[in-house]
Amino acid sequence: MKSGFFSFLLVLCCGGAFSAAGQATAEMTVNADQGKYTISRHIYGHFSEHLGRGIYGGLWVGEDSSVPNTGGVRNDIIEALKRIRIPNLRWPGGCFADEYHWRDGIGPRSERPKMINTHWGGVVEDNAFGTHEFLNLCEELGAEPYICGNVGSGTVEEMSKWVEYITFDGESPMANLRRQNGREKPWKVKFWGVGNENWGCGGNMTAEYYAGEYRRYQTYCRNYGNNRLYRIVGGPNVADYHWMEVMMRDIPTGMKQGVSLHYYTVPNQWSDKGSATDFDEAEYYRTIRKAYYMDELVTRHGAIMDRYDPEKRVGLVVDEWGNWFNVEPGTNPGFLYQQNTLRDAIVAGVTLNIFNNHADRVKMANIAQLVNVLQSLFLTDGEKMLLTPTYHVFDMYKVHHDATLLPTVLQSPEAKDEEGKAFPQVTASASRDADGKIHLSLVNADLQRSVQVKCVVHGAQGMSRGKGQVITSENIRDCNSFENPNRVVLYDFDDFSVDGEKVTVNLPAMSVVTVELK
Ligand code: AHR
Repeated sequence: MKSGFFSFLLVLCCGGAFSAAGQATAEMTVNADQGKYTISRHIYGHFSEHLGRGIYGGLWVGEDSSVPNTGGVRNDIIEALKRIRIPNLRWPGGCFADEYHWRDGIGPRSERPKMINTHWGGVVEDNAFGTHEFLNLCEELGAEPYICGNVGSGTVEEMSKWVEYITFDGESPMANLRRQNGREKPWKVKFWGVGNENWGCGGNMTAEYYAGEYRRYQTYCRNYGNNRLYRIVGGPNVADYHWMEVMMRDIPTGMKQGVSLHYYTVPNQWSDKGSATDFDEAEYYRTIRKAYYMDELVTRHGAIMDRYDPEKRVGLVVDEWGNWFNVEPGTNPGFLYQQNTLRDAIVAGVTLNIFNNHADRVKMANIAQLVNVLQSLFLTDGEKMLLTPTYHVFDMYKVHHDATLLPTVLQSPEAKDEEGKAFPQVTASASRDADGKIHLSLVNADLQRSVQVKCVVHGAQGMSRGKGQVITSENIRDCNSFENPNRVVLYDFDDFSVDGEKVTVNLPAMSVVTVELK
């Protein structure tokens, strides 16, 4: 951990980073006596697709690499993922999932067939990273694997045999093949996606057609031994509420445990999304306003789910989210490599607060993607690896894993984008962990105005100040580079006070903060 936040703030003030635009005030009530839902740690999930340098040249370096590795996966990333207690990892796609044939990725590597990765740059995929490599990595990490099966170009038989290969303990053709390939005992796999974006790259299906296909495929995804699959329906794109309606109406609750949702924050148009690092104030506020849209999506999709599933047995699984910008100049457009600034940290904080606050329905989420692709946690360059600002937010927010959500009511000053569309300057979420500690996570999205958040935490009598953390920087465009990998990191934060039930937190402009009451 770096030095205390006050010395950091002093440096910023001397550098003239904070304008004299004045301080705003927000009021917040935390009903610490009304916690009902658990924030699933799986909301803090990740996603690694065979895309660009996500796996090859990212996670995977191979056993013979000079980069220190465990079973071919770089140790620096493994260690950093353990630090944030990665709960699950989604693989192999994305769009790649619906053209992936798992049998190409098992057995001796030299004999694995090669294929063309048609979605992502048309590069040759040599299948070096396959089922064993992925599941061994998850075991090493202590993370639940989340496998996305192929519906678009696969068969029911292929998917069914994949489940058997991985999870069956007895004598069977697939279990024996697994043993022949060096793995005696089955792995445990819980999360199983039945296709990806089947309205698009996963087969261009209609909702009604896919719902029928889903019912058929899931029938043959068996629960072997005591392995219990959590089967996830390929859900809607953004605001396709018809798709959600059909998934809930046509697929009985007992045949599904989750329905996915995909939404990316794109500041401009898809044809020219905007740069990851070179953006102005207007583009910044537009990005934040669009990140807030996740709240409406989760609320409206959740309302449809409530009509069919009032007991909330089916989880909303936001298994692709994050910022999507133009690729870095000079890089392969099919590789989706983008830098990551303080803006990404703000979007991560805003989005994770939304998921926490919808813990009754959002049971899982996966930021896209883990390494070198879209809103990554890690960037690599040969031997070098850096942690992005987004990584640090996941580190800060790990206190919410499996904690009890504490309902909050927040009155925040407004921020506006250049079209005059308003959104709250501050967002927050709160939880109580197994040790009884309360954590408040707050985001101040304003570029100039600091804000004082006056909280009343009902039910927190007798608690005192614990530790605090903040991520901020001099400039919203600041990022970590291989030359300066620690420009945007976590600092200790102590600009908050606790007096009985009253908690006052002074949030710097453009910051994400978590404070602890113990
Ligand atoms: O994450 C990149 C791509 O975005 C995924 O492959 C696809 O599912 C989505 O369209």
